[in-house]
Amino acid sequence: MKKQNSMTKLVSTNGLQYAGYVAVAKTRAKVLKVFSYVIPVRRPMLFVGETSCDELCDMLINEGSTNVFIVTDSVLNKLSIPAKVIDYLKAKNISYKVYDGITPDPTFKVIEEGLRQSVAAKCDSILAIGGGSVIDAAKMIAMAQGNNCQPKKLIGILKARKPSVPLYCIPTTAGTGSEATLGAVVSDDTTHQKALSIDPRMVPLAAAIDPTIMKGMPAHITADTGIDVLTHALEAWMSVNASVETDYYAASAVKSVMHYLPVVYKEGGNLKAREEMGIAAHYGGIAFNKAGLGYVHAIAHQLGAYYSIPHGRANAIVLPYVLEVNREASKKRLAELAKKTGMIKDGQAIGNDRDIADHLITQVRDLINTLNIDPTVKGMQASDFDHIAKAAAKEVSDTYAVPTYLSASEIKNILTKIKQVSDERVDTDTDTDIKGNKVA
Ligand SMILES: [Fe+2]
Repeated sequence: MKKQNSMTKLVSTNGLQYAGYVAVAKTRAKVLKVFSYVIPVRRPMLFVGETSCDELCDMLINEGSTNVFIVTDSVLNKLSIPAKVIDYLKAKNISYKVYDGITPDPTFKVIEEGLRQSVAAKCDSILAIGGGSVIDAAKMIAMAQGNNCQPKKLIGILKARKPSVPLYCIPTTAGTGSEATLGAVVSDDTTHQKALSIDPRMVPLAAAIDPTIMKGMPAHITADTGIDVLTHALEAWMSVNASVETDYYAASAVKSVMHYLPVVYKEGGNLKAREEMGIAAHYGGIAFNKAGLGYVHAIAHQLGAYYSIPHGRANAIVLPYVLEVNREASKKRLAELAKKTGMIKDGQAIGNDRDIADHLITQVRDLINTLNIDPTVKGMQASDFDHIAKAAAKEVSDTYAVPTYLSASEIKNILTKIKQVSDERVDTDTDTDIKGNKVA
């Protein structure tokens, strides 16, 4: 049986213990706010458009790189996604080495191997071409190489003493916004528990949002990652640590996702929509870098760890429930967001803040339905809910600044609702033959 730490003990339905949990969490949120506004965080230089990869390579060369370590994964490498960049570097007589060993949720072993190869090849810059896992791994490799240390030494907050090796990123998905953030997640090789490294020097020097790189992304991944963007923006917007600055990026991302995600889901080759989603992902990353996330991510992280569902889909499943429980505390903010992002049309009278917040939640639900995202989690066990609820509550208390704090039983209510939907779907789906065809 897992040992409970002092924080998880606090999270219970007992009123006094719950009050203690909220008090500790609110204090931490205030500390986080001070940190986020005292410590300067650089923004990557951003190149956007069909020639943005070339522009990023030009910057890399002008900054003095002569030997580039390209970090990617084997799927992208087989699809020749890095070829466009490699061809450009070759034409400019720049040396390079490709490491395509990054796996989803990269482990220390995967990152250590990348570090070993980059050092052995005497590479002087790191270029990540991939999704969130690739970019996080590249951040760790660049930071470890710059500090001449093992990646494990960088776990925690501000553990590095020196800057990273110059890092550049070309995201291939519009989701995590990792190219804009100051953190990287690494999984333990045996326990698969996730560890976080946070340092402003981890932010890349530049990123390229190239819609031609993203256009081949399958529709279901486009949908999952797009809802991840929406969740980053909504949680940053609802955070009590939100500011004028984070509001700008969060609202811009929400507006783009609501408009362009359905478009790009249907028309994967629509470059305008791909580009707008890429920018939205970047903006979402900037927003949550300072304002933080909330219960959607806290619960989704646990669903991913326990039941192996993709991060974006887990967010899509949890998001409507958390919006519902936040509605009372956040109705004014949600109404403001709905008006700002065009969810309320001119002259459309739909009542007070609560009604407008309801309208926003309905539109988010409708978007998730339009994207045909599976709302079920296979293998959910009620016996897991205690640990999931406590771990999610701890993540919120440790790292986020949420508008309303949930007790363990309130989190378990959300899990129970998701399980009910999942069980009902399984019952319906069993009316099929051995080949999966529906039986009349
Ligand atoms: Fe996320």
